Amino acid sequence: MDETAQPLIQIEALTKVFYTDEIETHALSGVHLAIMRGDYVAMSGPSGCGKSTLLSIIGLLDTPTNGRYQLNSKPVENLSFAERSRIRNQEIGFIFQSFNLIGDLTVAENVELPLTYRSGMPAADRKRRVQESLERVGMAHRMRHYPSQLSGGQQQRVAVARALAGSPSILLADEPTGNLDSKNGEAVMELLSELHKEGATICMVTHDPRFARHADRQVHLFDGKVIAEGELSPEQLLQVQ
Ligand SMILES: Nc1ncnc2c1ncn2[C@@H]1O[C@H](COP(=O)(O)OP(=O)(O)O)[C@@H](O)[C@H]1O
Ligand SMILES: [Mg+2]
Repeated sequence: MDETAQPLIQIEALTKVFYTDEIETHALSGVHLAIMRGDYVAMSGPSGCGKSTLLSIIGLLDTPTNGRYQLNSKPVENLSFAERSRIRNQEIGFIFQSFNLIGDLTVAENVELPLTYRSGMPAADRKRRVQESLERVGMAHRMRHYPSQLSGGQQQRVAVARALAGSPSILLADEPTGNLDSKNGEAVMELLSELHKEGATICMVTHDPRFARHADRQVHLFDGKVIAEGELSPEQLLQVQ
C-alpha cells in the first residue's frame, strides 16, 4: 500500500477524562481527526474546550482514556514508555506559547538539547542541524546568546528552530503567538507558513481566527468535540466563542 496516502495522524472516538479530587472533567468526548502529510491544520475553540489536551495526546505527552490513535499507521496505545519517548523525540516537534527555552543554556545548546537524546547521532551531525535550523529561522547570529538576551519573538523563533532540528514528521504548536505582540505574532505565523510551503506538516492551536486563516484546514473544537471544519461565518463564530 502507498504509505503516503495514509493519514500521518488518525484519531477515532478519542476521549480524555481527568480525575481530580472528586471531580471528573471530560476534556475530550469523542474526537475524530485525520491529518495527512503536508497538512497545515489550525485548531480553535473557546478556552477549556480541550485543545491543549488533544495536542498533548497527539504529541505523546499524554495518553487518552479511550479511543484509537495511529501515528504513521501504527497504534500508539501499547507502546512502552521508552518507545513513546523515542517516537516523540524523533517524530514530534513542539512549539509552546511560553517558548520553554532553558534559561542557562545558550541558543545553540537549547536547539541541540533534544538531539542529544538521540542515540547514535554524531556530534558533527548535531552541530550541522543546529546551524541549519537556526539559519532557517534567521537566528544563527544569536547562537551564543542566552534566551533572556532575546525578545519574545526571537525566543519563539529559536523554539521553532529547536522543533525543526530533529526533522520531525509533524510540528505541534500550542498558541505559538499567545505571548507575542501582533507584529512578532505575525512574523512567527509567516515563518510557519513558509515551513508549510516547504513541506512541513503542522497542527497549530490558536483562538485567533486571523491566524487560523494561515492554515489550509481549520478545525473547530467545542466541549471536547470537533464540531466543524472550514472557515466559520461571523454568526457561527459568535456561537462558539
Ligand atoms: N491535568 C489536568 N487535570 C485536570 N483537569 C485538566 C487537566 N488538564 C486540563 N484539564 C481540564 O480539561 C479541560 C480542557 O483543558 P485544555 O485542554 O487545557 O483546554 P484548552 O487548551 O482548549 O483551553 C478543562 O476543563 C481543563 O480544566
Ligand atoms: Mg490550551
